[in-house]
Amino acid sequence: MRDKIIFYLNGKKHEIDAKDAFTSLSTYLRDDLGKTGTKVVCAEGDCGACTVLVASRKDLDKGKLVYKSLNSCITFLHLMDLHSIITVEGVAEKDKLHPVQESMMVNHGAQCGYCTPGFICAMAGMTDQLKLKEKPIDEKTTKNYLTGNLCRCTGYDSIIKSSLAVNLKEVNPLYERYHNSEMLKEFEDLEKEGVVLENKSRQIFLPSKIDDALKLKNDQKLLKCTSGATDLGVQVSKGRHEMEQVLSLYRVPEMSKIEKKGQEFHIGATATWHDIEKALKNDIPEYSKLIHIFASPQIKNAGTLVGNIANASPIADGTPFLFISEAKVVLSCTDGERVVPITQFYKGYKDLNLKDNELITKVIIPIPPKEYFLKLYKVSLRKDMDISAVTFAGMGNIENGQIKSIKLAYGGVGPVVKRLSTTEKLLNGKEWNEKNIGEATLQVEKEITPISDVRGSAKFRTQISKNLLMKFYREIQSQYGTEQGKKL
Ligand SMILES: Cc1cc2nc3c(=O)[nH]c(=O)nc-3n(C[C@H](O)[C@H](O)[C@H](O)COP(=O)(O)OP(=O)(O)OC[C@H]3O[C@@H](n4cnc5c(N)ncnc54)[C@H](O)[C@@H]3O)c2cc1C
Ligand code: FES
Ligand code: FES
Repeated sequence: MRDKIIFYLNGKKHEIDAKDAFTSLSTYLRDDLGKTGTKVVCAEGDCGACTVLVASRKDLDKGKLVYKSLNSCITFLHLMDLHSIITVEGVAEKDKLHPVQESMMVNHGAQCGYCTPGFICAMAGMTDQLKLKEKPIDEKTTKNYLTGNLCRCTGYDSIIKSSLAVNLKEVNPLYERYHNSEMLKEFEDLEKEGVVLENKSRQIFLPSKIDDALKLKNDQKLLKCTSGATDLGVQVSKGRHEMEQVLSLYRVPEMSKIEKKGQEFHIGATATWHDIEKALKNDIPEYSKLIHIFASPQIKNAGTLVGNIANASPIADGTPFLFISEAKVVLSCTDGERVVPITQFYKGYKDLNLKDNELITKVIIPIPPKEYFLKLYKVSLRKDMDISAVTFAGMGNIENGQIKSIKLAYGGVGPVVKRLSTTEKLLNGKEWNEKNIGEATLQVEKEITPISDVRGSAKFRTQISKNLLMKFYREIQSQYGTEQGKKL
């Protein structure tokens, strides 16, 4: 077992022992290395000032490491084992600015010293990815890549202009400049063995085999499992949580897999939102669309569906769809596996049907049948980068104007995400018309128990919930009914 974390930073090898492995990457960069180009402003993953670019062997494409953006303020150093990291100091080439830096300067995109380094990193990552895919820079793509970067002075126009003015031909990509076959060979050799870091009462386990992980969890029931640590990273950064004994599965290769098996997707515990969005695009486009407006690229490059499920927030965006698609959670321990329907996984607020020797290793999502209409809605103050007030998932099979089957789930209207089984029963078999849906909205009101908080009052949430069912009806009517020129 290795007792050090190994990564490369701007091409130079770093070895970290247990003493530093709990700190955040941004603290290590700024306080230990004096690399103060990386800024920390919100310290909770919201603004992107601390953006760096990272890649591991999982990010190899055509033999090259494709760097992705990450918020270093909420990334623990121990999650960087066997990664190559590029900070803003590594973006320029010796004395020559990166075309992105040059353009940000010339086009007045560089406005303050806090946000600019984060924008530069996110944009440099974007130019690498577009160059590799031989795609041009356009406004929509720029906005997508920069969703997680906040400019507090709202100078977005000149930032977007700067991005559009970059000539991709002039970009010498990071995947070429930092390509190092010896480093990749070293990573390949080292990834077979696990890592254990111990410092006083603190322990970090990074096993490379699932059996080792399950044995560790069996022996040490209090081990806290992390996936992308986007939730845990914020809690630690804000002093709400101390990490003492940690187990991460990110070095277990099969845990990051997303497999399509027949009419199901099997999604491993450390598969990121970014990869899930891509993998489900053709088969469950509505879910991919929802993931598209989930958080930011920096968060989606680290955060996972399993973390979203285990965090058990009633407003988690990922779960309502799982309730109506009747997804299953695979819970593993040294004795074997339990497959639990997601509808039976939550016993109450943040109370999981998960034993203390178990880990979630997989989520199984059935692909909705083609004849079912699926709609997923997120109601939040802003479209991007916002926490939901209410979420809605609806799926229905309607034949000759009659509801054959309807499934409805809401988030943000009770202590856990809720399937509205009584409303479903009321609608099943009925005619698909506005009158019946209107009556069903009265039942929705009876089935939910929203509370008032900063994101909305109970009254607001109730009204929104009723409206969302009507929106579901009207969207299906206009999208399919009129398109096909027949009554559903
Ligand atoms: C800036 C920002 C924006 C965000 N935006 C959104 C958003 O739009 N929508 C949304 O729903 N969420 C959002 N989140 C919350 C968070 O990113 C998601 O919930 C994410 O999916 C969590 O995944 P993770 O892998 O990072 O979880 P982690 O932080 O690693 O873990 C979360 C919880 O799950 C447990 N856990 C992790 N893996 C396992 C496992 N294998 N077995 C058992 N337990 C496990 C951990 O112990 C922890 O309690 C946002 C967070 C931030 C910081
Ligand atoms: S400092 Fe704001 S995201 Fe890290
Ligand atoms: S660039 Fe920093 S506030 Fe706008």
